[in-house]
Amino acid sequence: MEIRKVGVVGCGLMGSGIAQVSAMAGYTTVVREVSQALLDKGLGAIEKSLAKLVEKGTLSSEQKSQTAARLKPTLRLEEFADCDLVIEAIIENLERKKELFGELDRIVKPDAIFASNTSSLSITEVMTATERAPRFLGLHFFNPVPLMKLVELVKTVVTDPAAVQAALDFARKLGKTPILTSDRAGFIVNRLLVPYLLDAIRMLEEGFGTIEDIDQGMKLGCNHPMGPFTLLDFVGIDTTYYIAEILFNEYREKRFAPPPLLKRMVLAGMYGRKTGKGFYDYSDPKSPQPNRLLT
Ligand code: 3HC
Repeated sequence: MEIRKVGVVGCGLMGSGIAQVSAMAGYTTVVREVSQALLDKGLGAIEKSLAKLVEKGTLSSEQKSQTAARLKPTLRLEEFADCDLVIEAIIENLERKKELFGELDRIVKPDAIFASNTSSLSITEVMTATERAPRFLGLHFFNPVPLMKLVELVKTVVTDPAAVQAALDFARKLGKTPILTSDRAGFIVNRLLVPYLLDAIRMLEEGFGTIEDIDQGMKLGCNHPMGPFTLLDFVGIDTTYYIAEILFNEYREKRFAPPPLLKRMVLAGMYGRKTGKGFYDYSDPKSPQPNRLLT
């Protein structure tokens, strides 16, 4: 199961990052979006990130152009036919993912490995849309993909150990550190991270401290690079709400239940950095201010 050619479905925040690190590691990488506008947006993000890495000395200008040359943008799923590994990074919607994998299963060569970058949906459930259960697994990357070292490799009860090994080798070739986990909601990281983020919201609601002070507490007291509210805005208020719902549905435990404030913020369109307002207000992106409407 040697991986030479990689396909990435979706060129949004995660898909563009995954395509970028795959091409940087030397793989010919086909990346597909549903419209030219979305494809251009994703490619623009890759270009910006590569330029930043050159500026920092992580990448040479030559490596940057070689990376760009290895990227094969497309609007057509048919381009994935001879890929050895196809990684899906589309919207977190079970039906959409199943529909996509059903289609890919008919197009892509039967011995190729399929991976989903889902952060919370059941890999086993998505897998049922295909006829290649032994070669189906989860590869969960972290945001921002070019900088974050971790990849969670999620195996189901039927994943072939040879496919797991090939995916571990692939992740290592990307310069990432893979950790192995089983198919349970949240995997390892979100199972620990999401209840912590939800607790920070409850603490704000209960008056333990301000947004800034709770953030400072975890930054300066535990050396976290971001406090919980900065991280919530970075991950996305909508995404966190969505993951919390899935965790709550799986485990039926109070600690995973989304706090009322989280739901209200989603309804109000306060998704965090991406919409300019979340726990902080990003009107001046260089100096985010706590969102006073919330306190
Ligand atoms: N590509 C290249 N360079 C990038 C980049 C990217 N995608 N994103 C940021 N950078 C650069 C910045 O431009 C900056 O460059 P500069 O020093 O020249 O200004 C440099 O990296 C450092 O960034 P920042 O100045 O913004 O500050 P930080 O030192 O705080 O680093 C960070 C940024 C790595 C994001 C750090 O804050 C961090 O590790 N935060 C925590 C992130 C985290 O926890 N992610 C996981 C979220 S959970 C998840 O993804 C799972 C999902 O399922 C929910």
